Order: sequence, then structure tokens, then C-alpha cells
Amino acid sequence: MTQMTTTTTSPVLTATGVTMRFGGLTAVQSVDLNVHPGEIVGLIGPNGAGKTTFFNCLTGLYIPTEGSVAYQGTVLPPKPHLVTQAGIARTFQNIRLFANMTVLENVLVGRHTRTKEGLWSALLRGPGFKRAEAASKARAMELLEFTGLADKADHLSRNLPYGEQRKLEIARALASDPGLLLLDEPTAGMNPQETRATEELVFAIRDLGTAVLVIEHDMRFIFNLCDRVAVLVQGQKLVEGTSEIVQSDERVIAAYLGTPFEGAPGAEEAAEVEAAEAGATTGATTGAPQDETQRGTTARTEDGQ
Ligand SMILES: Nc1ncnc2c1ncn2[C@@H]1O[C@H](COP(=O)(O)OP(=O)(O)OP(=O)(O)O)[C@@H](O)[C@H]1O
Ligand SMILES: [Mg+2]
Repeated sequence: MTQMTTTTTSPVLTATGVTMRFGGLTAVQSVDLNVHPGEIVGLIGPNGAGKTTFFNCLTGLYIPTEGSVAYQGTVLPPKPHLVTQAGIARTFQNIRLFANMTVLENVLVGRHTRTKEGLWSALLRGPGFKRAEAASKARAMELLEFTGLADKADHLSRNLPYGEQRKLEIARALASDPGLLLLDEPTAGMNPQETRATEELVFAIRDLGTAVLVIEHDMRFIFNLCDRVAVLVQGQKLVEGTSEIVQSDERVIAAYLGTPFEGAPGAEEAAEVEAAEAGATTGATTGAPQDETQRGTTARTEDGQ
């Protein structure tokens, strides 16, 4: 009974003081992050900020130099298959599908952690795999329906357009029935229509009871989607909060634009340049104060279709 109470009240993910060093480079530094049941949390930050490295620490691909990662209150061993078995699934920034397998087979392979059969049995299609196949196949087809790929079930995954390969990665990750799904740039390379469809898909995944932690550079996508957003800059968590809070935080804007923020070294000089530019132009926006920039960002997001 105590255990049940703990399970229902604890966050799905608790990352505590996660640090990852590669030799002299600290890619992730003392990052704390919780994800609660029913949440969609965004992880943003400039290129090289440490987002993917943090995911790799969460999923056991890397053993963090310091810190711990717990799923539903239990500390995870840093082994990818044990992390998946525990209930965390992920997609990769660089798509990792079995190119010469069909769409359906790719999802079936993702299912192996939830059947008694092992990965090799699934790949070799041994007798044990065939017995379990009927149930797994039904579930896999369900997931292909869910992600909009059912009519491509028999296609080789390498023949899918890029956007559909990304969707297939999501379907495969869902096949392990995760309680938490980690998405690393799910809309990279997608057109606006595909991005919009992915947004709906992530909402639907959340509505079915899987919490989501998503890395993305597309700010409109992130701010439309996420209940909470954490910003990584040079390996450290700079800000965390609702989309509104993060969008209007001048430090976040500065980190992305690479410009100093108020109080930062060189801020006075930057203000002088800005004032000079404002004086030199007739347009109101070029030399606009920080507030204007922020409002512009918000408006663009709200206007998003
Ligand atoms: N295996 C590794 N060995 C050494 N350095 C690494 C390794 N993996 C990542 N890094 C370094 O860690 C830093 C963070 O990289 P990471 O890929 O996590 O950034 P990111 O935030 O995901 O960037 P992007 O938005 O471009 O995907 C970079 O400086 C990168 O070069
Ligand atoms: Mg990355």
C-alpha cells in the first residue's frame, strides 16, 4: 500500500545533480529535472548545450560522472535495456531504424522488451517469437494506426519519407509501453504540416498516460506543446518554467541570440550600440527595447496555426 502511494505521487522522472564530463569538457553540469505524470516537458538550448548528452545520461547510454536518475522513485541502473524495461523509451536525434526491415517489423522489434522473447529471437523470427507474434502484431498495428503509418506497414522503413521515419521512431518507442517518452528533435527536417501533426501526436501520447520530455529547436512547437520548459545553456539549467515565463526571460533570449543580457559583462556597451542603431533607423523595431522583442516572440507563437 505504501508502495502504491509512492508510485502515484512521485514524479515519473527525477534527475538529480546529473553531471557528464568528457575529459576536460563538462557537457552537463549538476542538472536537476523532474517530470510528473501527465506532463509534457520541453528541453531547449543552443547547439552543443548538452541536451542530447543529458538524454544519454537518462537512458543509460552514458554513465553520468555525478548524479542519479530515478524512474517512479527507483534509481535506474545505467544500462539502456534496463532503463527501457523500467518504462523509459526514447527516439534519437539521428534516426536509428532497421532500414531493411518493414515498418511493422521495426515496431515489433521495439516490442521485444514487453514480451518474453529477446531481441535476437525477434530479429531471427524464431519459434518463440512466432508464438508471441500474434499479440505483438496486433499491438504494433494499433500503434501504426495511432501514428498514421498503418497503410505503410509492409513498406521497408528505408523507403519512407523522412518525416514518416521520425514518426516510425515514435511508434517503435511506444511499443515498449513506456511511462515516459523522450523525444530528441522529433520535428527536425519536417515541413510545417508534418510538425503540426507531430504536435497533435505528442498531445495524444500524453492523453494516453505517457509523460513526455522533448528536445526541440522549433520554439513554436515547444511553446505550444509544453506544460513546462527547461533551458540548458553550456550544460547548466538556466531557467525552468511555463512557456510564458521562459519566453519572456531575457537570459533565454540572450543565450539564443548570443547577445548579453542586462547585468552581463558588456551590457552597457551593447545598450549604447542599440541606442545608436535606434537613432540611425526610422523603423521602430530595429532598435526596439527587449520588451518589444519578447512580445514579438509571443505573438508569433500564439499566431501559430
Ligand atoms: N561522446 C562524447 N565525447 C566527447 N564530447 C561529447 C560527446 N558527446 C557530446 N559531446 C560534447 O558535449 C557537448 C554537448 O553536446 P550535445 O550533443 O549534448 O549538445 P546538444 O544540446 O544536443 O546540441 P544540438 O542541439 O546541436 O543537438 C558538445 O560540446 C559535444 O561536442
Ligand atoms: Mg542534440
